[in-house]
Amino acid sequence: MDNKIPFKINLEKNKEYYWCSCGSSKKPESLCDGSHKGTNMSPTKFTVSESKVYFICTCKKSKTKPFCDGSHSR
Ligand code: FES
Repeated sequence: MDNKIPFKINLEKNKEYYWCSCGSSKKPESLCDGSHKGTNMSPTKFTVSESKVYFICTCKKSKTKPFCDGSHSR
């Protein structure tokens, strides 16, 4: 199974989300689950200006984190 593909998720306008930057989160949607504790990593807080479906980066290579920019396929 390729776990580097972006995760499709419906996000709500102005709600705070925390994107996992450490790669250890067990949440399938690549959002922080606290697994970074004890490391020097921390999640990236983000909001969206429109409620809709987004593609969240799971490969950690995107230049538009936390959103996918297609870097996983390059
Ligand atoms: S679990 Fe990865 S940053 Fe929190």
